[in-house]
Amino acid sequence: MSSRQSLTSWKKLSQLALNKKSQHMNDLFEQDKDRFNKFSIELPKMLLDYSKNLIDSETMSTLFELANECEVVEWRTKMFAGEKINKTEDRAVLHTALRRNSTEPLIVDGDNVTESVQAQLTKMEGFVNRVREGKWKGYSGKRITDIVNIGVGGSNLGPQMVTEALKHYSDHSVNVHYVSNVDGAQIVEILRPLDPEKVLFIVSSKTFTTTETMTNAKTAIKWLTASSFDERAVGKHFVAVTANKENAMSFGIEEENIFGMWDWVGGRFSLWSAIGLAIALDLGFDKFKALLAGADEMDQHFVNAPLEQNLPVVMALLSVWNTTFLGSKSQAILPYDQTLHMLAAYLQQAEMESNGKSVSWDGEEVDYATVPSIWGELGINGQHAFYQYLHQSNNVVPADFIGSVESVTPVQGHHETLMSNFFAQTQALMTGVNEEQVRADLKAKGRTPEYIDKVAPHKVHKGNRPTNTILLKRIDPETLGSLIAAYEHKIFVQGIILQICSFDQWGVELGKGLAASIQVELEGESISDKHDCSTENLINFYKQAKNK
Ligand code: F6P
Repeated sequence: MSSRQSLTSWKKLSQLALNKKSQHMNDLFEQDKDRFNKFSIELPKMLLDYSKNLIDSETMSTLFELANECEVVEWRTKMFAGEKINKTEDRAVLHTALRRNSTEPLIVDGDNVTESVQAQLTKMEGFVNRVREGKWKGYSGKRITDIVNIGVGGSNLGPQMVTEALKHYSDHSVNVHYVSNVDGAQIVEILRPLDPEKVLFIVSSKTFTTTETMTNAKTAIKWLTASSFDERAVGKHFVAVTANKENAMSFGIEEENIFGMWDWVGGRFSLWSAIGLAIALDLGFDKFKALLAGADEMDQHFVNAPLEQNLPVVMALLSVWNTTFLGSKSQAILPYDQTLHMLAAYLQQAEMESNGKSVSWDGEEVDYATVPSIWGELGINGQHAFYQYLHQSNNVVPADFIGSVESVTPVQGHHETLMSNFFAQTQALMTGVNEEQVRADLKAKGRTPEYIDKVAPHKVHKGNRPTNTILLKRIDPETLGSLIAAYEHKIFVQGIILQICSFDQWGVELGKGLAASIQVELEGESISDKHDCSTENLINFYKQAKNK
């Protein structure tokens, strides 16, 4: 038995879960008319209603006991103080320092992080202004009109998700594009309409070793120098964001065009660093700072609010409750704001790369479920695609519904239609409709008894499907910053409770290593006899089909 399972609160939660599984939220709402007030958190620009979960006051107080027994507060203090809580990599975890509005020194390994971050922000601001004002010229003296960010995973998803979400706030001083896929189809399509004399590439890679990014960056250099330019043009058309300055310089990027990164920023938490350069170029530095300020506001809430009123803590505890104690296997992210159309993809990396692990921080195999698989889509599109599954499959999928009170692009009649669906869906997922109601309804519509017998069982919705509702005032740089930071802290708290090392990602290494050796086989004559027969035959089939 793991140390977590011997905690008093854990044992109690296991008992409560047995009991809760046989209850219906409809009854809980019937018994307690004050659920909304009890189980919601209101912040200045964000509301979390978590009353539509299979919880009651006892469940919540036991979950808070669990947070206390797992020393969430102590771990939170360690993280913000720059202690090396990323044990397997012996690193601090300080993405919060990137948005911290303070001049207080914060020392990690002898470096004053506060000063380093400020210096980086100053360098970014100068660069962003020069490009946006047309003072940074391409090799032939022309103004830069297009930015192409080349990166993958955390060096792509965060910046691209934010760029998409805040499109409305761009003044289009430059156009921003993102290349992440090593499938040449993407870079070819993006570069096709662009003029090499007016393009600036950002090669974003913390390690500067990621094959996909390096391959795309080499192609970009070829594209640039295949025009009338020679290699000297690289200096005016390429910048890099990386913690590996040496590799970036040997790649041909000039030292002053390299923006640094620190080992205490994880890739999936890095959009607040120079990895967010494309965001700042698109929106202007003031709006990038507003994004940081919104995140800092959430950091302050996370640090100062009592656990019972702490939005990321509550979200984390509910995820642990739904997954580890009630047995849900996946979790849906369902934004009802078009601007958040990449949020689910972003959160997939943030949560699954952080906590998708099954060994505890002591190196022991854990004997409880850790995090669910995260998936999702714009809710309104999902309604016409996979909501059938959410309502009637025999898998219960807890879901986060995220919507805004105001649209950033109001069109008469649209927002109320959108939001009526937003509210209707969480109600329907919870209340469902039983067979008796279905039969009465069909009878009232004049259906025959034979028809009612045939159709009624298919129309039953059992309901009792947990949802969180997050309602934002509107999507703007501050609220988006706060929303992302809330999920980051939720992930951190989940990791602490589940004893998962949230800040490494060893699970991506095996496939990467194998791909590198298979690439040699695909490009050469022979293939290794170490493959299983499926992989061996697939590689042979591919090579033969290619040579036909
Ligand atoms: O392979 C996974 C990963 O290492 C992510 O953690 C990271 O965000 C991504 O690849 C990109 O890494 P880099 O920024 O070093 O190119």
